[in-house]
Amino acid sequence: MMIHSKPTARILLSLALSLPTLADNTPPKIAGCTALDCPNDGWDSCTVADETYVGVGVSRIADTPTALGDISLVKGVNISSSPGDPRNGGGDGGSDHGADESRPYRSVYYLGTPENLDVSSLSGCAVVFNDPPTEQFDTPKVNRSSVNTDIQASTGTCPDVIEQSCIDALTRQARGVDYQSSSGNACSSLERDLRDNAPKECSDLTGAGDGLGNFTVVSLGGLSAISSSQNSSSDCWPVLPKSDNLVLFAEDTVMGNYTNEGNLAEVYKITPILTVFTSANSSNDDPSAQLTCLKVVTTQNTEDAEGTGEDAAPLSTASMVGVSVATFVAVMFTLL
Ligand SMILES: *[C@@H]1O[C@H](CO)[C@@H](O)[C@H](O)[C@H]1NC(C)=O
Ligand SMILES: *[C@@H]1O[C@H](CO)[C@@H](O)[C@H](O)[C@H]1NC(C)=O
Ligand SMILES: *[C@@H]1O[C@H](CO)[C@@H](O)[C@H](O)[C@H]1NC(C)=O
Ligand SMILES: *[C@@H]1O[C@H](CO)[C@@H](O)[C@H](O)[C@H]1NC(C)=O
Ligand SMILES: *[C@@H]1O[C@H](CO)[C@@H](O)[C@H](O)[C@H]1NC(C)=O
Ligand SMILES: *[C@@H]1O[C@H](CO)[C@@H](O)[C@H](O)[C@H]1NC(C)=O
Repeated sequence: MMIHSKPTARILLSLALSLPTLADNTPPKIAGCTALDCPNDGWDSCTVADETYVGVGVSRIADTPTALGDISLVKGVNISSSPGDPRNGGGDGGSDHGADESRPYRSVYYLGTPENLDVSSLSGCAVVFNDPPTEQFDTPKVNRSSVNTDIQASTGTCPDVIEQSCIDALTRQARGVDYQSSSGNACSSLERDLRDNAPKECSDLTGAGDGLGNFTVVSLGGLSAISSSQNSSSDCWPVLPKSDNLVLFAEDTVMGNYTNEGNLAEVYKITPILTVFTSANSSNDDPSAQLTCLKVVTTQNTEDAEGTGEDAAPLSTASMVGVSVATFVAVMFTLL
């Protein structure tokens, strides 16, 4: 008995001592404005170099090459303040505020890179899966006894919403692409490979057998960080640690209806992002690949929820009318 319990105790003790390390290796969850300290006037708002977001989400990429250090992915979503498609010059600006009008929802993606990393030396690709997985993160609940998830606050990691076999197949396939010999066009090789030969394990990544759905492939080479001269209009720096640089690498605009449901579906959808880091140098390092799930996270003040059970209605309404309320407040101050 003693012979057995002693080593057990030692194993338990060493497990306890190593817990912080274990925690560091678990896939990081997504943090939003509360953790990032965005300005808040009753609703989240975050302005980064002339882009204003109704919310943001940040998640560290697990298992980046040690030479690069910790790199994060950041997502911000903007709802256009006027209806219509910006590509058609703003649409019919006259008929507004119809509940069924559609508006451009613009998602913008950044890398958060360590201060001491030379962004221009990065090389690799990112694949942004624009269509969300069918599954939703299931925590936190609207209230503890509820079966409903608080879509705005919900957070998790890719394995919560995507089959592990798909995650493994995607990252394996991305690592297998020959990035070196495809002269200067490494990311188009990856794109072609994914379009022509999507992993069968991912037939349901976006649900209903749509496979990988609509995705965008971009290069992570030749990017630059937001400079202090571009930064003068920022009131927010949605990354941790705050010393990290922000590097815009992709964006995607979809038209969504301007209703509470549309708002929840478009602002708070989950976006899987596949990152591939290759060696800028030569073939001395194998490419590394990671799948990270991102979404905007808005933590609500539960005191304000008034127990209506109407999901996230109060705050999302506030974000939707945020622009006009701000204008109204400005007018009030001008008059007084
Ligand atoms: C979205 O961006 C536009 C242009 O930068 C800005 O005018 C608008 O206020 C933003 N929308 C929100 C809800 O912040
Ligand atoms: C993907 O969606 C974008 C708009 O978000 C659209 O412009 C593009 O044509 C779509 N691509 C495919 C292959 O459907
Ligand atoms: C940009 O501005 C934000 C907000 O003022 C600040 O927190 C951040 O450190 C600035 N970043 C750079 C690179 O100047
Ligand atoms: C708005 O979009 C949501 C989410 O896509 C959908 O459930 C709802 O039926 C749409 N409402 C209208 C009026 O189109
Ligand atoms: C390139 O390789 C050399 C030697 O292997 C190394 O010292 C250098 O840091 C590498 N540069 C980059 C950008 O990886
Ligand atoms: C939480 O759930 C209980 C039981 O279903 C319900 O009575 C209560 O109104 C709910 N509270 C909120 C804030 O939704």
